[in-house]
Amino acid sequence: MTQDELKQAVARAALAYVVPDAIVGVGTGSTANFFIDALAEMKDRIPAAVASSEATRKRLEGHGIRVLDLNEVSEMPIYVDGADEVNARLHMIKGGGGALTREKIVAAVATKFVCIADASKQVEVMGRFPLPVEVIPMARAHVARQLAKLGGRPALREGFVTDNGNLILDVHGLAIDDPEALEAEINQIVGVVTNGLFALRGADVLLLGTADGVKTFV
Ligand code: A5P
Repeated sequence: MTQDELKQAVARAALAYVVPDAIVGVGTGSTANFFIDALAEMKDRIPAAVASSEATRKRLEGHGIRVLDLNEVSEMPIYVDGADEVNARLHMIKGGGGALTREKIVAAVATKFVCIADASKQVEVMGRFPLPVEVIPMARAHVARQLAKLGGRPALREGFVTDNGNLILDVHGLAIDDPEALEAEINQIVGVVTNGLFALRGADVLLLGTADGVKTFV
């Protein structure tokens, strides 16, 4: 199977977690896009969705799915999204598409985070994928110096501005032995909006697309 076929398989498997008559939180990226396309088939059974990016909002609306502002929503049983890396404890690195802050906010409101990923995303120790950190533009150099003190090599994502008008530093070379501690530590740096570690609030379910079919981890 191709990587896209694996992504499609997990996206389709995630439909089983969609609660009828309830709001669905929707992530960002190529795997999430396959989920949106699959969700369109059952759009009459959900009242609306919440989007984690402008790209996702447009794709949902393109399928005729109503998109709500998160502030209008108090209960959301599930959030479905991809990941750049995921470990055995269902911690993730996210933000390859730069949507990490809105993804983390929408995920925080959801009761259950369903991660959908092809097998290439599964790792023992996270950090080979550079860790995205969203920063307020005027704090870019300060935050980069602090990240270097933590042992990382931050690189500005050239020509990229987040949906929130901020910048992304992609941090290379971090050995992420304790994802929860590192997530908290980076968030303490003044000028950081969010970092792409989803460990303090990881996934609740991982649907992993493999050559042997979709495997479920909880
Ligand atoms: C978007 O900012 C990311 O968090 C994505 O969820 C992540 O990069 C996975 O994307 P793909 O599904 O395209 O690999």
